[in-house]
Amino acid sequence: MELVSKINNKSAKIGVVGLGYVGLPLSMEFALKGFNTIGFDVDNKKIEYIKKGESYIKHISNEKIGRAIQGNRLDVTTDFARLTEVDAIIICVPTPLNEHREPDMTFVVNTAKTIAKYLRKGQLVTLESTTYPGTTEEILLPLFQNAEAAGKVGFEVGKDFYLAFSPEREDPNNAEFSTSTIPKVVGGVTDKCLEAAKLLYDQVIVKTVPVSSPKAAEATKLLENIYRSINIALVNELKMVFDRMDIDIWEVVRAASTKPFGYTPFYPGPGLGGHCIPIDPFYLTWKAREYEINTKFIELAGEINTYQPYYVVEKSIELLNKHKKSLNGSRVLILGAAYKKNIDDMRESPSLKLIEIFNKRGAKVDYSDPYIPKLQKTRKYDYEMDSVELSKENLAEYDLVIVSTDHSDFDYKFIAENSQLVIDTRNAFENNNVVSDRIFKA
Ligand SMILES: NC(=O)c1ccc[n+]([C@@H]2O[C@H](COP(=O)([O-])OP(=O)(O)OC[C@H]3O[C@@H](n4cnc5c(N)ncnc54)[C@H](O)[C@@H]3O)[C@@H](O)[C@H]2O)c1
Repeated sequence: MELVSKINNKSAKIGVVGLGYVGLPLSMEFALKGFNTIGFDVDNKKIEYIKKGESYIKHISNEKIGRAIQGNRLDVTTDFARLTEVDAIIICVPTPLNEHREPDMTFVVNTAKTIAKYLRKGQLVTLESTTYPGTTEEILLPLFQNAEAAGKVGFEVGKDFYLAFSPEREDPNNAEFSTSTIPKVVGGVTDKCLEAAKLLYDQVIVKTVPVSSPKAAEATKLLENIYRSINIALVNELKMVFDRMDIDIWEVVRAASTKPFGYTPFYPGPGLGGHCIPIDPFYLTWKAREYEINTKFIELAGEINTYQPYYVVEKSIELLNKHKKSLNGSRVLILGAAYKKNIDDMRESPSLKLIEIFNKRGAKVDYSDPYIPKLQKTRKYDYEMDSVELSKENLAEYDLVIVSTDHSDFDYKFIAENSQLVIDTRNAFENNNVVSDRIFKA
């Protein structure tokens, strides 16, 4: 295989389609390992940022982008005709849910159609976007084999081109792991496809884990995220049960975590957030229907996790009531808009849902987040809100402060001292050794 020798002698040119949270670090990894790399995106603003050496993702530094684009090692473009220049194409485009909680495959399909137009002999295509088992072989393969528009009828997989699925694993802002140090699962349509894809990822990833097919790789990613969704739902349910019994779930999880085997701690919170856990499990639910089987665990976990922001609001109403206040007309400050601590990503953040529910119940809501100065438009929400400064005077004005994201930058002692009432959904105060009778957990 010519591709194999090109990868081995580092003359292979790599293309990454979709330069978001997954694609940007991956394209930089290839460039920094000495591969000429082209990053493709439909969003011209991102292309301009990268060309200027500026990052649009908080945990990726300008300095690293600067190194990657040095000498044009990483080149970026919106011109997809340049796909013909590369030897391997890695797809990292979004796979969200539509308003009916069904897979929205438009980004993957549009990308695959574009690639089909330019596909040439000898190229390897790998899909990284999280998706249901079957996507690579049911959507991508037929498009590439029958790229009639480009006169490519009869293109044979494993011979004329290579196709694989390799899911992304990322834990934003986890200092212990980055793109290159997280083992990567790979499944090829044929043995040759697997060989090429494995070799490609071996260049930049610490360990690649081959599996028998793309659909086994697609299913692996779903298992990982379903496992988290279900375990988070379990602690969220126990949180509500134990609360009635006047037992603190955080104390119980901490104690259970001392068991040296057979237990992995998961923590409760105000609801699921991020691009993966609230979304990916439903890709399987949707696909399973085709096989006349229901994914009951997934649905149940979804129900419990979706309820969590409502639970926080109920607890807020109870607390205000105890202080002879109604939520209607109260001023509420939500701390944290990002879905997880110390990052600037607010996709699917439960804070956005909290804002919606509080607003609907008549509260006047503000938020504060050092990472998100202004709420950006999302698929679902379009709030015109700026982050409020956490001054003594500002805090005192709110009837209730809710800790939704436990950023390390928050001064929990200061917040406890200057707020009227606080609901803590993350155990942030206890974790920071701050004790106050104004703090309540939910
Ligand atoms: N962010 C994570 O932590 C993470 C982790 C694991 C897996 N994933 C999966 O990886 C995939 C990408 O996620 P992400 O977080 O990088 O998304 P993202 O929204 O940050 O980035 C996607 C990029 O693709 C671009 N894009 C959209 N349509 C395009 C097209 N037709 N051609 C070229 N570019 C296009 C967008 O402009 C955007 O820059 C998703 O399937 C996601 O589920 C994400």
